[in-house]
Amino acid sequence: MVLLIGLGLVQIAGLTIHALDRMDVQRMAQTRDAAVRVISMYRSVVLAPRERQAAVVAEFDLRDGATVWLSDLPIAEPLPVMDPAAQRQFRGAMLLVPVPVEQRPREFVLRGGADAEHIAVALRLPEGSKWLNATLEMPPPRPWHSQNFFSAFMMMTVTAAVLTLWAVRRLIAPVATLAAAAEALGRNVNAPPLPETGPLEIATAARAFNTMAGRIRRFVLDRTFMLTAIGHDLRTPITRLKLRAEFLEDDELRAKMLADLDEVEAMVASILSFGRDVAADEPVTPVDLPELARTVLDETADAQPDFAERLSYSGPDHLTVRVHSLAMKRALSNLVQNALAYGGNACVRLVPPEAGQLILVIEDDGPGIPAIELERVFQPFHRVENSRNRETGGSGLGLPIARNILRAHGGDVKLINREGGGMRATVILPV
Ligand SMILES: Nc1ncnc2c1ncn2[C@@H]1O[C@H](COP(=O)(O)OP(=O)(O)O)[C@@H](O)[C@H]1O
Ligand SMILES: [Mg+2]
Repeated sequence: MVLLIGLGLVQIAGLTIHALDRMDVQRMAQTRDAAVRVISMYRSVVLAPRERQAAVVAEFDLRDGATVWLSDLPIAEPLPVMDPAAQRQFRGAMLLVPVPVEQRPREFVLRGGADAEHIAVALRLPEGSKWLNATLEMPPPRPWHSQNFFSAFMMMTVTAAVLTLWAVRRLIAPVATLAAAAEALGRNVNAPPLPETGPLEIATAARAFNTMAGRIRRFVLDRTFMLTAIGHDLRTPITRLKLRAEFLEDDELRAKMLADLDEVEAMVASILSFGRDVAADEPVTPVDLPELARTVLDETADAQPDFAERLSYSGPDHLTVRVHSLAMKRALSNLVQNALAYGGNACVRLVPPEAGQLILVIEDDGPGIPAIELERVFQPFHRVENSRNRETGGSGLGLPIARNILRAHGGDVKLINREGGGMRATVILPV
Protein backbone atom coordinates (compact mmCIF):
# COMPACT_ATOMS: atom_id res chain seq x y z
CA MET A 1 0.00 0.00 0.00
CA VAL A 2 2.76 2.42 1.00
CA LEU A 3 4.61 1.76 -2.24
CA LEU A 4 1.48 2.20 -4.32
CA ILE A 5 0.51 5.42 -2.54
CA GLY A 6 4.08 6.64 -3.00
CA LEU A 7 3.92 5.78 -6.68
CA GLY A 8 0.63 7.68 -6.97
CA LEU A 9 2.11 10.77 -5.28
CA VAL A 10 5.20 10.68 -7.48
CA GLN A 11 3.02 10.39 -10.58
CA ILE A 12 0.84 13.32 -9.51
CA ALA A 13 3.91 15.44 -8.79
CA GLY A 14 5.41 14.45 -12.14
CA LEU A 15 2.19 15.30 -13.94
CA THR A 16 2.07 18.71 -12.28
CA ILE A 17 5.65 19.50 -13.18
CA HIS A 18 5.00 18.39 -16.73
CA ALA A 19 1.84 20.53 -16.96
CA LEU A 20 3.56 23.64 -15.59
CA ASP A 21 6.44 23.16 -17.97
CA ARG A 22 4.13 22.70 -20.93
CA MET A 23 2.16 25.80 -20.02
CA ASP A 24 5.41 27.76 -19.89
CA VAL A 25 6.49 26.51 -23.28
CA GLN A 26 3.09 27.23 -24.83
CA ARG A 27 3.05 30.72 -23.35
CA MET A 28 6.48 31.35 -24.80
CA ALA A 29 5.43 30.13 -28.23
CA GLN A 30 2.32 32.29 -28.13
CA THR A 31 4.35 35.34 -27.15
CA ARG A 32 6.81 34.70 -29.97
CA ASP A 33 3.98 34.27 -32.41
CA ALA A 34 2.33 37.48 -31.24
CA ALA A 35 5.64 39.38 -31.46
CA VAL A 36 6.21 38.16 -35.00
CA ARG A 37 2.71 39.23 -36.06
CA VAL A 38 3.01 42.65 -34.45
CA ILE A 39 6.44 43.35 -35.93
CA SER A 40 5.44 42.21 -39.41
CA MET A 41 2.34 44.42 -39.32
CA TYR A 42 4.47 47.32 -38.14
CA ARG A 43 6.90 46.69 -40.98
CA SER A 44 4.18 46.65 -43.59
CA VAL A 45 2.84 49.96 -42.30
CA VAL A 46 6.29 51.57 -42.04
CA LEU A 47 7.28 50.50 -45.56
CA ALA A 48 4.05 51.84 -47.06
CA PRO A 49 3.85 55.49 -48.22
CA ARG A 50 2.24 57.73 -45.63
CA GLU A 51 -1.06 58.16 -47.52
CA ARG A 52 -1.40 54.38 -48.04
CA GLN A 53 -0.83 53.44 -44.40
CA ALA A 54 -4.48 53.51 -43.36
CA ALA A 55 -5.39 51.32 -46.34
CA VAL A 56 -2.62 48.82 -45.48
CA VAL A 57 -3.93 48.58 -41.93
CA ALA A 58 -7.44 47.97 -43.21
CA GLU A 59 -6.21 45.17 -45.49
CA PHE A 60 -4.48 43.13 -42.77
CA ASP A 61 -5.62 39.56 -42.71
CA LEU A 62 -6.76 39.31 -39.09
CA ARG A 63 -7.45 36.02 -37.45
CA ASP A 64 -8.39 34.82 -33.96
CA GLY A 65 -10.30 37.92 -32.90
CA ALA A 66 -7.37 40.27 -33.37
CA THR A 67 -7.97 43.95 -34.09
CA VAL A 68 -5.62 46.60 -35.45
CA TRP A 69 -6.04 50.31 -36.11
CA LEU A 70 -4.15 53.59 -36.38
CA SER A 71 -4.70 56.38 -33.89
CA ASP A 72 -3.12 59.52 -32.47
CA LEU A 73 -2.81 58.14 -28.97
CA PRO A 74 -1.61 54.71 -27.84
CA ILE A 75 -4.34 52.38 -26.68
CA ALA A 76 -5.17 52.98 -23.02
CA GLU A 77 -8.11 51.36 -21.29
CA PRO A 78 -9.53 48.83 -20.55
CA LEU A 79 -6.43 46.64 -20.29
CA PRO A 80 -3.92 47.49 -17.52
CA VAL A 81 -0.27 47.92 -18.24
CA MET A 82 1.35 44.54 -18.72
CA ASP A 83 3.28 43.26 -15.70
CA PRO A 84 7.08 43.70 -15.94
CA ALA A 85 7.96 40.03 -16.32
CA ALA A 86 5.57 39.59 -19.25
CA GLN A 87 6.78 42.86 -20.75
CA ARG A 88 10.35 41.63 -20.60
CA GLN A 89 9.34 38.40 -22.26
CA PHE A 90 7.45 40.17 -25.03
CA ARG A 91 10.24 42.62 -25.63
CA GLY A 92 12.75 39.76 -25.84
CA ALA A 93 10.49 38.02 -28.34
CA MET A 94 10.27 41.16 -30.48
CA LEU A 95 14.04 41.50 -30.48
CA LEU A 96 14.39 37.99 -31.79
CA VAL A 97 12.28 38.70 -34.89
CA PRO A 98 14.84 39.12 -37.70
CA VAL A 99 14.14 42.57 -39.20
CA PRO A 100 16.48 45.44 -40.05
CA VAL A 101 17.04 47.91 -37.20
CA GLU A 102 15.35 50.83 -38.96
CA GLN A 103 12.16 48.81 -39.33
CA ARG A 104 11.89 48.14 -35.62
CA PRO A 105 9.59 50.15 -33.38
CA ARG A 106 11.47 52.59 -31.09
CA GLU A 107 8.64 53.21 -28.72
CA PHE A 108 5.82 50.98 -27.70
CA VAL A 109 3.26 50.39 -24.96
CA LEU A 110 2.32 46.90 -23.80
CA ARG A 111 -0.92 46.14 -22.04
CA GLY A 112 -2.38 42.88 -20.92
CA GLY A 113 -4.84 41.35 -18.47
CA ALA A 114 -3.67 39.48 -15.39
CA ASP A 115 -4.77 36.25 -17.09
CA ALA A 116 -2.72 37.31 -20.13
CA GLU A 117 -5.44 36.06 -22.46
CA HIS A 118 -5.75 39.39 -24.23
CA ILE A 119 -2.83 41.65 -24.90
CA ALA A 120 -2.71 45.03 -26.54
CA VAL A 121 0.35 46.51 -28.20
CA ALA A 122 0.76 50.13 -29.33
CA LEU A 123 3.76 50.98 -31.54
CA ARG A 124 4.70 54.52 -32.46
CA LEU A 125 5.27 54.97 -36.16
CA PRO A 126 8.68 56.59 -36.96
CA GLU A 127 7.57 59.87 -38.60
CA GLY A 128 4.60 61.76 -37.34
CA SER A 129 2.78 60.97 -34.12
CA LYS A 130 0.56 58.10 -35.20
CA TRP A 131 0.37 54.87 -33.25
CA LEU A 132 -0.30 51.43 -34.62
CA ASN A 133 -2.55 49.64 -32.11
CA ALA A 134 -3.21 45.93 -32.06
CA THR A 135 -5.12 43.66 -29.69
CA LEU A 136 -4.44 39.96 -29.81
CA GLU A 137 -6.12 36.97 -28.24
CA MET A 138 -3.87 34.52 -26.42
CA PRO A 139 -5.89 31.34 -25.78
CA PRO A 140 -5.18 29.78 -22.36
CA PRO A 141 -2.46 27.11 -22.52
CA ARG A 142 -3.72 23.54 -22.67
CA PRO A 143 -1.33 21.20 -20.88
CA TRP A 144 -3.42 18.05 -21.54
CA HIS A 145 -4.09 18.49 -25.19
CA SER A 146 -2.57 15.19 -26.35
CA GLN A 147 -4.54 11.95 -26.21
CA ASN A 148 -1.39 9.89 -26.67
CA PHE A 149 0.27 11.51 -23.74
CA PHE A 150 -2.56 10.42 -21.49
CA SER A 151 -2.57 6.81 -22.71
CA ALA A 152 1.21 6.64 -22.38
CA PHE A 153 1.07 8.11 -18.90
CA MET A 154 -1.64 5.69 -17.77
CA MET A 155 0.26 2.77 -19.27
CA MET A 156 3.41 3.81 -17.45
CA THR A 157 1.55 4.15 -14.15
CA VAL A 158 -0.21 0.82 -14.47
CA THR A 159 3.01 -0.94 -15.49
CA ALA A 160 4.84 0.55 -12.53
CA ALA A 161 2.01 -0.46 -10.17
CA VAL A 162 1.91 -4.00 -11.54
CA LEU A 163 5.68 -4.34 -11.31
CA THR A 164 5.60 -3.04 -7.74
CA LEU A 165 2.90 -5.52 -6.76
CA TRP A 166 4.74 -8.35 -8.44
CA ALA A 167 8.05 -7.49 -6.77
CA VAL A 168 6.48 -7.11 -3.33
CA ARG A 169 4.65 -10.38 -3.70
CA ARG A 170 7.84 -12.10 -4.77
CA LEU A 171 9.64 -10.64 -1.80
CA ILE A 172 7.08 -11.67 0.78
CA ALA A 173 6.36 -15.10 -0.71
CA PRO A 174 9.14 -16.74 1.35
CA VAL A 175 7.56 -15.33 4.51
CA ALA A 176 4.36 -17.20 3.67
CA THR A 177 6.43 -20.36 3.03
CA LEU A 178 8.12 -19.90 6.39
CA ALA A 179 4.74 -19.45 8.10
CA ALA A 180 3.42 -22.60 6.42
CA ALA A 181 6.54 -24.51 7.46
CA ALA A 182 6.16 -23.36 11.07
CA GLU A 183 2.52 -24.43 10.94
CA ALA A 184 3.46 -27.84 9.51
CA LEU A 185 6.19 -28.30 12.11
CA GLY A 186 3.66 -27.60 14.85
CA ARG A 187 1.57 -30.49 13.58
CA ASN A 188 4.32 -32.90 12.70
CA VAL A 189 7.90 -32.71 13.91
CA ASN A 190 8.94 -34.90 11.00
CA ALA A 191 7.68 -32.39 8.42
CA PRO A 192 10.10 -32.07 5.46
CA PRO A 193 12.71 -29.28 5.74
CA LEU A 194 12.42 -25.95 3.93
CA PRO A 195 14.39 -25.52 0.70
CA GLU A 196 17.42 -23.39 1.55
CA THR A 197 17.43 -21.50 -1.74
CA GLY A 198 16.61 -18.00 -2.90
CA PRO A 199 18.11 -14.65 -1.86
CA LEU A 200 20.79 -14.75 0.83
CA GLU A 201 18.57 -13.49 3.67
CA ILE A 202 15.78 -15.92 2.81
CA ALA A 203 18.19 -18.84 2.55
CA THR A 204 19.70 -17.89 5.91
CA ALA A 205 16.26 -17.73 7.52
CA ALA A 206 15.34 -21.11 5.99
CA ARG A 207 18.60 -22.63 7.27
CA ALA A 208 17.98 -21.24 10.77
CA PHE A 209 14.44 -22.58 10.66
CA ASN A 210 15.63 -26.04 9.57
CA THR A 211 18.25 -26.07 12.32
CA MET A 212 15.58 -25.18 14.86
CA ALA A 213 13.24 -27.84 13.48
CA GLY A 214 16.06 -30.38 13.71
CA ARG A 215 16.72 -29.49 17.34
CA ILE A 216 13.03 -29.75 18.22
CA ARG A 217 12.86 -33.10 16.43
CA ARG A 218 15.89 -34.40 18.33
CA PHE A 219 14.46 -33.10 21.58
CA VAL A 220 11.13 -34.84 21.03
CA LEU A 221 12.80 -38.05 19.94
CA ASP A 222 15.18 -37.98 22.94
CA ARG A 223 12.22 -37.62 25.27
CA THR A 224 10.35 -40.42 23.57
CA PHE A 225 13.37 -42.69 23.59
CA MET A 226 13.85 -41.98 27.28
CA LEU A 227 10.20 -42.82 27.91
CA THR A 228 10.39 -46.06 25.95
CA ALA A 229 13.72 -46.98 27.56
CA ILE A 230 12.16 -46.59 30.99
CA GLY A 231 9.15 -48.59 29.87
CA HIS A 232 11.41 -51.25 28.49
CA ASP A 233 13.50 -51.48 31.64
CA LEU A 234 10.41 -51.71 33.80
CA ARG A 235 9.23 -54.87 32.09
CA THR A 236 11.80 -57.18 33.69
CA PRO A 237 11.20 -56.06 37.30
CA ILE A 238 7.44 -56.26 36.69
CA THR A 239 7.78 -59.84 35.51
CA ARG A 240 9.97 -60.61 38.52
CA LEU A 241 7.43 -59.00 40.86
CA LYS A 242 4.66 -61.06 39.30
CA LEU A 243 6.64 -64.23 39.82
CA ARG A 244 7.25 -63.31 43.41
CA ALA A 245 3.61 -62.39 43.95
CA GLU A 246 2.64 -65.90 42.87
CA PHE A 247 4.38 -67.17 45.97
CA LEU A 248 2.28 -65.08 48.37
CA GLU A 249 0.33 -67.18 50.84
CA ASP A 250 -2.57 -64.76 51.25
CA ASP A 251 -4.98 -65.39 48.34
CA GLU A 252 -6.68 -62.01 48.46
CA LEU A 253 -3.46 -60.08 48.70
CA ARG A 254 -1.98 -62.09 45.85
CA ALA A 255 -4.96 -61.41 43.60
CA LYS A 256 -4.80 -57.66 44.27
CA MET A 257 -1.08 -57.54 43.70
CA LEU A 258 -1.34 -59.41 40.44
CA ALA A 259 -4.16 -57.12 39.28
CA ASP A 260 -2.07 -54.02 40.07
CA LEU A 261 0.91 -55.50 38.31
CA ASP A 262 -1.27 -56.26 35.27
CA GLU A 263 -2.30 -52.64 35.20
CA VAL A 264 1.30 -51.46 35.39
CA GLU A 265 2.19 -53.90 32.63
CA ALA A 266 -0.62 -52.57 30.43
CA MET A 267 0.63 -49.01 30.98
CA VAL A 268 4.15 -49.98 30.06
CA ALA A 269 2.88 -51.74 26.96
CA SER A 270 1.05 -48.61 25.78
CA ILE A 271 4.07 -46.44 26.54
CA LEU A 272 6.14 -48.72 24.35
CA SER A 273 3.64 -48.65 21.50
CA PHE A 274 3.39 -44.86 21.81
CA GLY A 275 7.17 -44.63 21.51
CA ARG A 276 7.11 -46.89 18.49
CA ASP A 277 4.52 -44.63 16.82
CA VAL A 278 6.58 -41.51 17.31
CA ALA A 279 9.78 -43.13 16.14
CA ALA A 280 8.19 -44.85 13.14
CA ASP A 281 8.74 -42.84 9.99
CA GLU A 282 5.96 -44.47 8.03
CA PRO A 283 5.47 -43.11 4.48
CA VAL A 284 2.22 -41.52 3.35
CA THR A 285 0.32 -43.84 1.00
CA PRO A 286 -3.10 -43.78 -0.68
CA VAL A 287 -5.51 -45.62 1.60
CA ASP A 288 -9.17 -46.47 1.16
CA LEU A 289 -10.59 -44.92 4.32
CA PRO A 290 -13.93 -46.82 4.41
CA GLU A 291 -11.97 -50.02 3.90
CA LEU A 292 -9.68 -49.08 6.78
CA ALA A 293 -12.65 -48.26 9.02
CA ARG A 294 -14.30 -51.58 8.20
CA THR A 295 -11.05 -53.44 8.91
CA VAL A 296 -10.84 -51.74 12.31
CA LEU A 297 -14.44 -52.72 13.07
CA ASP A 298 -13.84 -56.31 11.90
CA GLU A 299 -10.73 -56.67 14.02
CA THR A 300 -12.55 -55.24 17.03
CA ALA A 301 -15.39 -57.68 16.42
CA ASP A 302 -12.91 -60.55 16.20
CA ALA A 303 -11.42 -59.54 19.51
CA GLN A 304 -14.84 -59.22 21.15
CA PRO A 305 -17.26 -61.51 19.28
CA ASP A 306 -20.09 -60.75 21.74
CA PHE A 307 -20.23 -57.18 20.58
CA ALA A 308 -19.92 -57.93 16.87
CA GLU A 309 -23.40 -56.74 15.90
CA ARG A 310 -23.07 -53.53 17.88
CA LEU A 311 -20.50 -52.25 15.44
CA SER A 312 -21.60 -50.52 12.26
CA TYR A 313 -20.28 -48.42 9.43
CA SER A 314 -22.21 -46.05 7.19
CA GLY A 315 -20.99 -43.75 4.45
CA PRO A 316 -19.36 -44.07 1.02
CA ASP A 317 -18.00 -47.48 0.07
CA HIS A 318 -14.69 -46.18 -1.22
CA LEU A 319 -12.75 -43.01 -0.63
CA THR A 320 -9.02 -42.78 -1.14
CA VAL A 321 -7.01 -40.50 1.12
CA ARG A 322 -3.27 -40.11 1.55
CA VAL A 323 -2.33 -41.02 5.12
CA HIS A 324 0.14 -42.97 7.22
CA SER A 325 -1.89 -46.14 7.03
CA LEU A 326 -0.75 -47.94 10.23
CA ALA A 327 -0.91 -44.82 12.37
CA MET A 328 -4.36 -43.90 11.04
CA LYS A 329 -5.55 -47.41 11.77
CA ARG A 330 -4.30 -47.13 15.34
CA ALA A 331 -6.07 -43.80 15.81
CA LEU A 332 -9.41 -45.12 14.52
CA SER A 333 -9.04 -48.31 16.47
CA ASN A 334 -8.46 -46.38 19.72
CA LEU A 335 -11.63 -44.37 19.15
CA VAL A 336 -13.71 -47.42 18.22
CA GLN A 337 -12.43 -49.35 21.21
CA ASN A 338 -13.31 -46.47 23.53
CA ALA A 339 -16.84 -46.30 22.12
CA LEU A 340 -17.25 -50.03 22.62
CA ALA A 341 -15.62 -50.14 26.05
CA TYR A 342 -17.36 -47.13 27.58
CA GLY A 343 -20.48 -46.86 25.45
CA GLY A 344 -21.20 -50.48 24.62
CA ASN A 345 -21.50 -49.93 20.86
CA ALA A 346 -19.78 -48.06 18.01
CA CYS A 347 -21.29 -46.44 14.90
CA VAL A 348 -18.73 -45.15 12.44
CA ARG A 349 -20.07 -42.63 9.94
CA LEU A 350 -18.07 -41.10 7.11
CA VAL A 351 -19.20 -37.76 5.68
CA PRO A 352 -17.94 -37.30 2.11
CA PRO A 353 -15.32 -34.57 1.75
CA GLU A 354 -16.50 -31.00 1.53
CA ALA A 355 -14.47 -27.77 1.35
CA GLY A 356 -11.18 -29.66 1.52
CA GLN A 357 -11.89 -31.75 4.59
CA LEU A 358 -13.69 -34.92 5.47
CA ILE A 359 -15.41 -35.80 8.71
CA LEU A 360 -15.48 -39.21 10.34
CA VAL A 361 -17.80 -39.62 13.31
CA ILE A 362 -17.61 -42.41 15.91
CA GLU A 363 -20.70 -42.52 18.09
CA ASP A 364 -21.91 -44.65 20.95
CA ASP A 365 -25.00 -44.76 23.18
CA GLY A 366 -23.13 -44.90 26.48
CA PRO A 367 -23.09 -42.44 29.36
CA GLY A 368 -20.61 -39.98 27.79
CA ILE A 369 -18.32 -38.01 30.10
CA PRO A 370 -18.77 -34.83 32.17
CA ALA A 371 -18.32 -31.69 30.06
CA ILE A 372 -15.30 -30.62 32.12
CA GLU A 373 -13.48 -33.82 31.15
CA LEU A 374 -13.99 -33.43 27.40
CA GLU A 375 -10.55 -31.90 26.84
CA ARG A 376 -8.76 -33.44 29.81
CA VAL A 377 -9.17 -36.99 28.54
CA PHE A 378 -6.72 -36.03 25.76
CA GLN A 379 -3.95 -35.67 28.34
CA PRO A 380 -1.75 -38.74 28.66
CA PHE A 381 -2.82 -41.15 31.40
CA HIS A 382 -5.90 -39.13 32.22
CA ARG A 383 -8.93 -41.31 32.77
CA VAL A 384 -12.35 -40.34 33.96
CA GLU A 385 -12.82 -41.45 37.56
CA ASN A 386 -15.63 -43.98 37.07
CA SER A 387 -13.75 -45.89 34.40
CA ARG A 388 -10.65 -46.34 36.54
CA ASN A 389 -11.84 -49.30 38.42
CA ARG A 390 -13.62 -50.97 35.58
CA GLU A 391 -12.36 -53.94 33.74
CA THR A 392 -11.52 -51.88 30.70
CA GLY A 393 -7.80 -52.40 30.81
CA GLY A 394 -6.92 -49.05 29.33
CA SER A 395 -4.11 -46.83 30.53
CA GLY A 396 -5.29 -43.37 29.42
CA LEU A 397 -3.08 -43.15 26.34
CA GLY A 398 -5.66 -44.04 23.67
CA LEU A 399 -7.06 -40.55 23.08
CA PRO A 400 -3.73 -38.65 23.28
CA ILE A 401 -2.25 -41.08 20.75
CA ALA A 402 -5.26 -40.73 18.44
CA ARG A 403 -5.11 -36.94 18.61
CA ASN A 404 -1.33 -36.97 18.09
CA ILE A 405 -1.71 -39.07 14.95
CA LEU A 406 -4.60 -37.03 13.53
CA ARG A 407 -2.89 -33.70 14.18
CA ALA A 408 0.21 -35.03 12.44
CA HIS A 409 -2.07 -35.48 9.42
CA GLY A 410 -3.20 -31.87 9.67
CA GLY A 411 -6.52 -32.93 11.17
CA ASP A 412 -7.89 -33.25 14.68
CA VAL A 413 -10.32 -35.14 16.89
CA LYS A 414 -12.88 -33.67 19.29
CA LEU A 415 -15.24 -35.25 21.77
CA ILE A 416 -18.74 -34.06 22.52
CA ASN A 417 -21.65 -35.50 24.46
CA ARG A 418 -24.53 -36.25 22.11
CA GLU A 419 -27.82 -34.62 22.85
CA GLY A 420 -29.74 -37.84 23.31
CA GLY A 421 -26.93 -39.32 25.46
CA GLY A 422 -23.77 -41.07 24.38
CA MET A 423 -20.48 -39.85 23.09
CA ARG A 424 -19.47 -38.53 19.69
CA ALA A 425 -15.86 -38.42 18.57
CA THR A 426 -15.49 -36.20 15.49
CA VAL A 427 -12.43 -36.75 13.35
CA ILE A 428 -11.54 -34.03 10.86
CA LEU A 429 -9.02 -34.79 8.12
CA PRO A 430 -7.85 -32.53 5.30
CA VAL A 431 -8.07 -34.16 1.87
N1 LIG B 1 -16.79 -43.10 24.18
C1 LIG B 1 -16.52 -42.78 25.47
N2 LIG B 1 -17.52 -42.74 26.41
C2 LIG B 1 -17.25 -42.42 27.68
N3 LIG B 1 -16.03 -42.13 28.14
C3 LIG B 1 -14.99 -42.17 27.29
C4 LIG B 1 -15.18 -42.49 25.92
N4 LIG B 1 -13.99 -42.44 25.30
C5 LIG B 1 -13.09 -42.13 26.25
N5 LIG B 1 -13.68 -41.96 27.45
C6 LIG B 1 -13.02 -41.58 28.70
O1 LIG B 1 -11.76 -41.00 28.37
C7 LIG B 1 -10.75 -41.68 29.10
C8 LIG B 1 -9.48 -41.66 28.31
O2 LIG B 1 -9.59 -42.51 27.18
P1 LIG B 1 -8.31 -43.14 26.57
O3 LIG B 1 -7.34 -42.06 26.36
O4 LIG B 1 -8.69 -43.93 25.37
O5 LIG B 1 -7.74 -44.06 27.69
P2 LIG B 1 -8.24 -45.51 28.14
O6 LIG B 1 -9.24 -45.95 27.16
O7 LIG B 1 -7.00 -46.28 28.11
O8 LIG B 1 -8.79 -45.30 29.51
C9 LIG B 1 -11.30 -43.03 29.35
O9 LIG B 1 -10.72 -43.56 30.48
C10 LIG B 1 -12.76 -42.77 29.55
O10 LIG B 1 -13.00 -42.41 30.87
MG1 LIG C 1 -9.03 -46.06 25.17
